[in-house]
Amino acid sequence: MTSRVIPVPSFVLVVFGATGDLARRKLLPAMFQRDIAGQLAEAAIIGVSRGDLSQADFLGQARQAITDHVPAADVTAAALEKFLGRISYVQADADTDSGWPALAAALAPYRDRVNVFYLATAPNFFGMICERLGRFDLAHENARVVVEKPIGKDLASARALNEEIGQVFPEERVYRIDHYLGKEAVQNLMALRFANGLFEPLWNAAHIDHVQITVAESLGVEGRAGYYDKAGALRDMVQNHMLQLLCLVAMEPPAKLDADAVRDEKLKVLRSLKPLDSDALCALHTVRGQYRAGASAGGAVRGYLEELGEPASTTETFVALKAEIANWRWAGVPFFLRTGKRLPERVSEIVILFRPIPHSVFEPEAGPIEPNRLVIRLQPDEGVKLWLMSKDPGPGGMRLRPVPLDMSFATAFRVRNPDAYERLVLDVVRGNQTLFMRRDEVEAAWTWIDPILKIWAEAKDPPRGYTAGTWGPSAAIALIERDGRTWVESGA
Ligand code: BG6
Repeated sequence: MTSRVIPVPSFVLVVFGATGDLARRKLLPAMFQRDIAGQLAEAAIIGVSRGDLSQADFLGQARQAITDHVPAADVTAAALEKFLGRISYVQADADTDSGWPALAAALAPYRDRVNVFYLATAPNFFGMICERLGRFDLAHENARVVVEKPIGKDLASARALNEEIGQVFPEERVYRIDHYLGKEAVQNLMALRFANGLFEPLWNAAHIDHVQITVAESLGVEGRAGYYDKAGALRDMVQNHMLQLLCLVAMEPPAKLDADAVRDEKLKVLRSLKPLDSDALCALHTVRGQYRAGASAGGAVRGYLEELGEPASTTETFVALKAEIANWRWAGVPFFLRTGKRLPERVSEIVILFRPIPHSVFEPEAGPIEPNRLVIRLQPDEGVKLWLMSKDPGPGGMRLRPVPLDMSFATAFRVRNPDAYERLVLDVVRGNQTLFMRRDEVEAAWTWIDPILKIWAEAKDPPRGYTAGTWGPSAAIALIERDGRTWVESGA
């Protein structure tokens, strides 16, 4: 089966930070894939960075990025040459006017097209780049700006950043990327909830006991320790990706799938989260951890502090928490979230645990009756499993056991799963903001995160250690078990 290719309008994509990691690993490969899918009729890409590179140097880097990050089977010489033919390079500074007249000149022929300015730079450059885009008359009505997280490090800095961007671009032309929203399986969550009549009547506190959301990584902080040590798992993963997942599970059905209808509903969820704003609440509802030396991803690995070379760091590489949503649908249904680096495997899963049956008609010999469980696997091996109790086959009386209805997307659809960035960049070109975070959403998420950050920063005790390759500190198990529940093993 092939996926449907919907043409997009002519555009020019300007990537600031074009020699950086995001451009090489994600943006150029994503554009290449869309090019070979036949979606980029009239498209040009301009790489911008402060590096003194010739056109040929930059094309060499772009070629390398495609070779390194696109499966060889997808890359033919002709396709690669065609793609490179779309690319040019302009040297410009973010923090001075150097190079900007040249950028303006390079963009002059494309003024009537959609102009996408992708800021793949550190966030401290966002404000200055936007200011210059305005001053050099590049933020015209065909122009859109795309920013990556982190959008701030707390509520105040997020507001300041949004303010700076907002001085130049109106909100309907600002695209805040959360790449989790571009993942196929995450979008499928909306299909599952809103294209099936089966679940909605059960999707509430009367039928759901609790929800677990796990985003586990086996890798450590790799080459990003400088950024990561200032962020930590709560800012890096929970404030954005995990709260977005929670919103998609918990939101009311929007009236339609348009950007504001969806984002209004997500915002209501964020605003209904019960604040964790006292020492006692944080102690009871949150756990932070930091990995120590151990074994992960098939070998011995160093601890976070050794990797960082900074023995006093109290940055968390693991978070588990219990969130509660104070509204009619979800009152009394805890959402347990956990995420961390150097866990036993890379897996992201949402598990919806239904309430037990009210009364058993079976004899005790039938065995325990497990409540139904819906497991939505986001990565890897995207799919959905609904665990049902069934009769063990054969004579010998009624014995029961849980069996899954198991749908694997790979088997059901047999298409390549596009990377989130392929979808997201082209959504910017189409002017579709549904999968991007609105300013008030980002700020509402920070409003909930801020008190936790503050209480952790003032706490005397450092994060709890956990051995690399395990599921985090034992306190994370205690957190959920205090509630009489237990973490569901991945894949189960
Ligand atoms: C990024 C975080 O946003 O998401 C990283 O900054 C993390 O620390 C990454 O590794 C995880 O993304 P994915 O798509 O690999 O699950």
